[in-house]
Amino acid sequence: MKITASLTKPNESKSDAIIVATYSDEKHNSIVQEIDQLVDGQITSLSNSKDFKSGVGETLTLFSKDGKRIVVVGLGKKDKCDLGTLQTATNKAVKALVKSPAESVSNYTTSLEFHNTDNSTACKIITIAASHAAYRYEATKHFKKDDTHNIDSMDLYIDDRHSQDVLHAAAIATGVETTRELGNLPPNICNPKYLAKKAKSIAKQYDNCSLTVLNHKEMDTLKMNSLMAVARGSRNRPKMIVLKYKGADKNQKPHILVGKGITFDTGGISLKPGANMDEMKYDMCGAATVIGTFVAIAEMQLPINLIVIVPAVENMPDGDAYRPGDVVTSYSGKTIEVLNTDAEGRMILCDALTYAQEFEPQVLIDLATLTGACVVALGHVASAVMSKETQLPQDIIQAGVDIHDRAWQLPLWDDYQKQIDTSFADMQNIGGFPAGTITAGCFLSRFTEEANWAHIDIAGTAWNNKKEGATGRPVAMMAQYLINESLK
Ligand code: BES
Ligand code: MN
Ligand code: ZN
Repeated sequence: MKITASLTKPNESKSDAIIVATYSDEKHNSIVQEIDQLVDGQITSLSNSKDFKSGVGETLTLFSKDGKRIVVVGLGKKDKCDLGTLQTATNKAVKALVKSPAESVSNYTTSLEFHNTDNSTACKIITIAASHAAYRYEATKHFKKDDTHNIDSMDLYIDDRHSQDVLHAAAIATGVETTRELGNLPPNICNPKYLAKKAKSIAKQYDNCSLTVLNHKEMDTLKMNSLMAVARGSRNRPKMIVLKYKGADKNQKPHILVGKGITFDTGGISLKPGANMDEMKYDMCGAATVIGTFVAIAEMQLPINLIVIVPAVENMPDGDAYRPGDVVTSYSGKTIEVLNTDAEGRMILCDALTYAQEFEPQVLIDLATLTGACVVALGHVASAVMSKETQLPQDIIQAGVDIHDRAWQLPLWDDYQKQIDTSFADMQNIGGFPAGTITAGCFLSRFTEEANWAHIDIAGTAWNNKKEGATGRPVAMMAQYLINESLK
């Protein structure tokens, strides 16, 4: 969806549809009144008759004299309307149009005044939410329904001072879409080779980008034995994908994002139960998130240096698969006793994180669908942030608040470390039932002692019910974090 800032008045709009928002406790502003005239005052009469109450996300679809669809969406009470309300309302309004033949929309929500936010943030939230609602997965559908149209463009009613915000938000929306598409693709298509191919096309598409990919032989030679242990069980060979974006002076140390790229997680020899195992196609959503964030940053041409590293591996049971009881020597030299082959994410991440530190990051952040325990702790609402630093996790969480893609911190206190001690190696790869998300973080912390590092578990936020699929979270939070960093 192409999104642009435009101050075209409703009666001059050439779009197929108009979206406008109303509060339940405020008089209509002049823009809403103008739109009301296009529908012979029906917005006012339906509001007066209480047929339309402007509740949060309540929609009313009308037809103007000149054949435009007019979607009125409620925002509830003005002083209660926050970023979440804008997100919900925008989603409902666009969803009311996706089944219509409309292909272009003018959105007048930003003609309103907001009590809890500024217009700059509002237009970013609306842009990202509108694009999100218009996304449709089609890649593996042969029979495309011909009664559905794509909404290709949206004009946002906002003046030029906000054009930078719209550009940034549109870039984030493109990143989110990239992430969702990668997440939703089936595991027989989206395997390590496919992720490497996708990275290659992205590096080609944008300025100031480059790509290197390590194959299994190179990783063997480098002794990335922990990653290779997981990879051994699959015919699909692993890749280590390194995408670089140079938007600042080469002396400026890079921000590095590492994303878990398990393209399918069967659990390996510690095989997962059959129910819902298909959802483990989403186990590469950390990878998809960092790639999507990369797209957003490259699209914005943000003045920072960014490196994205994706260990891409499939976790399968096999005659050559790694087994519980094995001890492997990681790329760092530290030894790991494998007690569960289903705790494979940390096994590939530890080697990728060690490798990442060779690029001397100023900030190192990994994102991973790492633990089922994270879904128990925070549900599908917040991503979990863990760090031994003070400032870094706060900056990440603040970015999440700024763009309404929120995260919450869990402690990485040393008290938890003993749960992964073992008599047979430097550490074991599971920490038992209590605090499973934290002990996974503790494991990673043992490989990142020298870095300004944070770990984000996105097991609860990267996808939800089977129908919506990949959410594209937390691309917005990560892109906003990097925008905030670029302003420092
Ligand atoms: N990819 C899973 C984590 C996961 C499971 C995310 C379900 C979302 C939903 C990860 O590789 C895994 O299997 N983790 C194990 C760790 C355990 C063996 C210590 C888990 O969470 O059960
Ligand atoms: Mn697993
Ligand atoms: Zn996994």
